[in-house]
Amino acid sequence: LFMVGLNEMQEKERLLASKLAITKAIVVKGDSDQERQVLSSFGQVVSECLQLALPDQDNVIAVMGGTTMAAVAENMTALDDYHHHLTFVPARGGIGESVEIQANSVSAKMAMKTNGDFRPLYVPERVSHETYQSLLQEPFVQTVLNLIGESTCVIHSIGRALHMAVRRGMDEEELVMLKNNKAVSESFGYFFDDEGNIVYKIPRIGLQLKELEKVPVILAVAGGKSKAKAIQAYMKHAPHHTWLITDEGAANEILKGD
Ligand code: F6P
Repeated sequence: LFMVGLNEMQEKERLLASKLAITKAIVVKGDSDQERQVLSSFGQVVSECLQLALPDQDNVIAVMGGTTMAAVAENMTALDDYHHHLTFVPARGGIGESVEIQANSVSAKMAMKTNGDFRPLYVPERVSHETYQSLLQEPFVQTVLNLIGESTCVIHSIGRALHMAVRRGMDEEELVMLKNNKAVSESFGYFFDDEGNIVYKIPRIGLQLKELEKVPVILAVAGGKSKAKAIQAYMKHAPHHTWLITDEGAANEILKGD
């Protein structure tokens, strides 16, 4: 019976990866919209993926924030030694989110759980162009930006566009613009329509989407039936070598009708 269950899940993963045109999809049981426990189980899966995919060298891992990422961090485990040293950095600056789910906190927690290091990036979300330019000159900012540029892995989540816009405190005018442009998905501060076109970008320092392609290991972690459309839209834009870690709630919805 166990084998039957396993094979069914493997078949689902294969179908999902193929439908989304990415290298690999991993589906865990349940629906994270219903059970928080499912989000926690992503942590172990992420650790296993890192174990499998990271190159045998010191690695810099750039991470995003959010509730999914925070739950992942909480449940990560140390890797075998051969991956040498892990340094976690926030992928993009911006202290807009509440403190527990900021990329800075997520990188700190991941470092703690895996016996690695982290470097925070304290850059406010909304500053004038001039302030931004002078912040960029600061040595502490440059050190982290250089690390982000060297990252061998990126771990991020995917969110629903309007939900994320509200959470990020975007104003009424921006919300209307996102609706008019039919934004359905958000990741890295970029907004996408259901064809995967970028319809808006929050100006931020750090990793830019066009640089993602050259990062060897990319883990996208997002689950729940409510995120199905957002996941599908983002994956139309995502580098082909992205691995998706998701749950049955999202996977079944994406595969529905196939
Ligand atoms: O802001 C970082 C981020 O990972 C986004 O890429 C994504 O849209 C969002 O968080 C997801 O948030 P949550 O995990 O809370 O749904």
